[in-house]
Amino acid sequence: MTQKSTSDATESERIVNRARNVIPGGAQTGLRAQAYGTGEIAFERAKDATLTTVDGDEYTDYHLGFGPIILGHAYDSVDDAARRAIDGGVLYGAGTAPLEVEVAERLVEQLPSVEQVNFCNSGSEATYHAIRLARAATGNEKILKFEGCYHGWHDYVDVSVYPPEDGLGEQYPESEGMLSSAVENTLVVPFNDSKAVEDVFRDHGDDLAGVILEPVPHSVGCILPRREFLQTLRELTEEADVPLIFDEVISGFRHSPNGAQGEFGVKPDLTCVAKALGNGYPVAAVGGREELLSQAGGDNKSGVVISGTYSGNLPGLAAARETIDTIVEEDVQSYVTDLGDDYRAGLRDLLADRGVPGRVVGHRSIFSIQFGVTGEPESYEDILGLDEEKFREFAGGMRERGHFFTPNPYKRHHLSFAHGEEHLECYLDDADDVLANL
Ligand SMILES: Cc1ncc(COP(=O)(O)O)c(C=O)c1O
Repeated sequence: MTQKSTSDATESERIVNRARNVIPGGAQTGLRAQAYGTGEIAFERAKDATLTTVDGDEYTDYHLGFGPIILGHAYDSVDDAARRAIDGGVLYGAGTAPLEVEVAERLVEQLPSVEQVNFCNSGSEATYHAIRLARAATGNEKILKFEGCYHGWHDYVDVSVYPPEDGLGEQYPESEGMLSSAVENTLVVPFNDSKAVEDVFRDHGDDLAGVILEPVPHSVGCILPRREFLQTLRELTEEADVPLIFDEVISGFRHSPNGAQGEFGVKPDLTCVAKALGNGYPVAAVGGREELLSQAGGDNKSGVVISGTYSGNLPGLAAARETIDTIVEEDVQSYVTDLGDDYRAGLRDLLADRGVPGRVVGHRSIFSIQFGVTGEPESYEDILGLDEEKFREFAGGMRERGHFFTPNPYKRHHLSFAHGEEHLECYLDDADDVLANL
């Protein structure tokens, strides 16, 4: 890449160049660095639906931090709640705080399958804990997951999230440095494929510790579950006495306060929530049936160890309580679902009018534009073959016009309570312009 002389460089470019000296790739994660695919960018402010760069450029934000921001950035009542909590101390790290109980009670009330809850700080921690609980309960080691589902960065699950075409049907490690025995113990089959799951239960039923899935896989845009697929998973796991784990890190509190389990009427044994639970604050939880969760009720000499210095930190819990209450009281999901429907319908019309091959997928407040592929995707394989270059061009054109989302073609747009008709109109007008010039 040609570097501009320091005097020509924007402030964003100067910061990213400095970052590259001291932060690998210049960003905290590889996925974040992908934003540079449409030019270096450094942000310093986010409010409502607007992200502002260090250069003072403003964007309507459809990325929303990979999805946690459901109410809008810096939502006043959530931040006020966190501030009040900070005034009383950030972390006690001993005994129980009343706020923990209150938020746990809300989760039990909202999530149909959840009887007990343990807090942590990220989705990856929650899925890690869920799998340990499942392994302890069954005495088995193997986990079944689905191609295209992401459950965090740890070795238990970072397998076959985005496998290349020749890695389909394999246990494809997403990172170097992973423990081979962890990968070997993570079985993988296509999403929505009940027959493949039945085969795994036939061949490995006695060795299985759990089945984990995103009930609506959004890590690759959006795949809708067939209802009978979810029911088959429930029946097979129940028969074999193997915990069914719903990773509701995205769907929980973004699609519904009752999660996908409420929406699709299938109760898992264990549930992981994070992201929209705290509107951006680091708060997450693993919840589930008392029989499974209570394995963690010991004294660290018996049972399952679930640990974490920052688990149950007060600002995170205060943010979660206020976010849940706002979502429920304001019926946020109806609002963002209607808005999502309008974006999807508008974009579908534009693709048709402009004769651009592609599809718009999504659910409720989430949508993705996938160029070069048609039909409703049922599994990860149906997403392979999308036109990555065209999406990057689209993302670049939209960014020039003031709309920000990651140029990663497998990711998704998110909407929040702070998005409205004015954003919709502007987005569709500009998308029309960009599509006309693709
Ligand atoms: C469905 C799902 N599960 C788990 C995770 C991991 O969460 P975290 O990044 O908070 O560790 C993510 C993150 O994107 C996710 O989308």
